[in-house]
Amino acid sequence: MRRRIVAGNWKMNGSKDLAKELVGYVRSETGSLDNGVEVVIIPPALYIGDVLSQARGDLAVGVQNIAQWESGAYTGEIAPAMAKDAGCRYVLVGHSERRQIFGETDEMVARKVSLAVASDLTAIVCVGESLEEREAGQAEAVVARQVRSGLISVTQYSEWQNVVVAYEPVWAIGTGKTATAEDAQTMHASIRSVLKDMGAPADEVSVLYGGSVKADNASALFAEPDIDGGLIGGASLIAEDFVSICRSLP
Ligand code: G3P
Repeated sequence: MRRRIVAGNWKMNGSKDLAKELVGYVRSETGSLDNGVEVVIIPPALYIGDVLSQARGDLAVGVQNIAQWESGAYTGEIAPAMAKDAGCRYVLVGHSERRQIFGETDEMVARKVSLAVASDLTAIVCVGESLEEREAGQAEAVVARQVRSGLISVTQYSEWQNVVVAYEPVWAIGTGKTATAEDAQTMHASIRSVLKDMGAPADEVSVLYGGSVKADNASALFAEPDIDGGLIGGASLIAEDFVSICRSLP
């Protein structure tokens, strides 16, 4: 009923060679999986064409960021409709690196989500608390605020079909520290109840976990009832590890 997704966010890593070797391997190894996983590769924008040609329609492709405008004089930006036109099905919005390094606000996230959905892209909307916020007992409140404000423009059932939430606690990204499966499940259940409260078809919205997901911890996370897959950083650059994570969905 919910999409089950494993998405690899390459961040600012990779090359034409990686696109050729890794994507071809992932395609051939995941093609026969019967766990219903939708595999998404999210490379730097310059390699989207290379990844698409290796994916051959069997893997979905996403872009790591889009502009908050439809078109115009915004040098260096990628319009949502261009990402769609180029063959992307997904877009990451509000990744914590965009929020922290590039100053992306909840309002910018909301504008990008609105444009992504209007362009028929599935927005993977990233939310997550910092270590300080978790230690201050504010994790659920922070994440609830990010979900409510980032998704404020999404109202129609058909629009919710193009929304995926990714819970990525900032302290777990690239650090080797993962939330326990129980803590992640608690947050995912809380996100789902916020979605319900917003009037979303909450049981149909996929909620992914991200933050140091590896081949050896994916199964425990994915076994939780409200964790519908993962958003993978470092391990998505290692073909065998990424395939093993795709296999870990029950
Ligand atoms: O978007 C994925 C991400 O931020 C997690 O990165 O390297 O901790 O798996 P990593």
